[in-house]
Amino acid sequence: MAVVGAGPIGLAIAWRCAARGLRVVVHDPAPGSGASAVAAGMLSPVAEAYFGERQLTALLLASAARWPAFAAELTEATGVEIGYRTEGTLMVGLTGDDLAEARRLWAYQQGLGLPVTPLRPSELRDREPALAPRVRGGALAPTDHQVDPRLLLPALRTAARRAGAVLVPQPVRQLSDVDAHVTVVAAGCGAAALTGLPVRPVKGQILRLRAPDGVAPGFRHVIRGYADGEHVYLVPRAGGEVVLGATVEERSDTTVTAGAVQRLLRAGVDLLPELAEYDLVEAVAGLRPGTPDNAPILGPLPDRPDVLAATGHHRHGIVLTPITADLIADLVLGGVPDPLLTPLRADRFDPAGAAVGGPEPTMEGHLWN
Ligand code: GLY
Repeated sequence: MAVVGAGPIGLAIAWRCAARGLRVVVHDPAPGSGASAVAAGMLSPVAEAYFGERQLTALLLASAARWPAFAAELTEATGVEIGYRTEGTLMVGLTGDDLAEARRLWAYQQGLGLPVTPLRPSELRDREPALAPRVRGGALAPTDHQVDPRLLLPALRTAARRAGAVLVPQPVRQLSDVDAHVTVVAAGCGAAALTGLPVRPVKGQILRLRAPDGVAPGFRHVIRGYADGEHVYLVPRAGGEVVLGATVEERSDTTVTAGAVQRLLRAGVDLLPELAEYDLVEAVAGLRPGTPDNAPILGPLPDRPDVLAATGHHRHGIVLTPITADLIADLVLGGVPDPLLTPLRADRFDPAGAAVGGPEPTMEGHLWN
């Protein structure tokens, strides 16, 4: 089989398929140069459970539940630590208006039965003393974790290679360039040109800061903040790095703009004043592969049953890596398609395609205890 794209999705599929005995060739002229190279690595199915996205939320929960075993297996296979951290995520509001907006979302998330615990300001500050005194309130999503994509990528490359996959640094410009019985297109935004699927770039500008003198950042949770109407996240890494993101722009360029950097820094420093003393070490932009309904596209092309799409992961590529790899490997190996795949089919945007839907998924099967 062939896999087009050596980002986390393509590599994890290659790893899973090679480990199950398939001969796998992965094509990518610039491995690790896509969205995952700039991604923050939040595993946040709870904090990112948004209004109107119940099916996507169920998928995110199901994949996040696989992350502990996936991370352990990957480290076991490669000896590489991938920065998987389980301190949880704090969601905070800077002003009264920010808190009111955040509380509406927390009420929705709690209504789904998700673990969101509102915190009094004193409890918030007990957990993260570095938060600005004027932060009005917050809530804890203890099961939302994080991983470092810049450690994940090389680990997946090693795992895929050790399982027998071959990585070929050549581009695939059209599907006829590939000689394989089954081809998986895991090329992020590049899937649009190869398959005609409605995958569009959604630009995200993101910053990396570093605590002075190489010390760990002065906070340990992932922090998702509403700050004067700006929505930002701050992801602390053990080595002193803090990832501060991100814009969401319907654009296809990767330029970094002064205005975006200013807005991200202002929101970040307003929430965590100590960031003003950090080094600003990187400002980059990546392109998320978005779809018309924000959910990924997983499964055969309507007119090419030998070509499987594994793309359109939008804001969720890292969290959805384990489940995408398992579901696609099962399909490649001829298993019965998992019911989770039904609303993710490639023909759902095609007027002639199958109706999307079915019953709303229940969250219960995917909650942590
Ligand atoms: N998952 C975070 C982002 O796309 O910015």
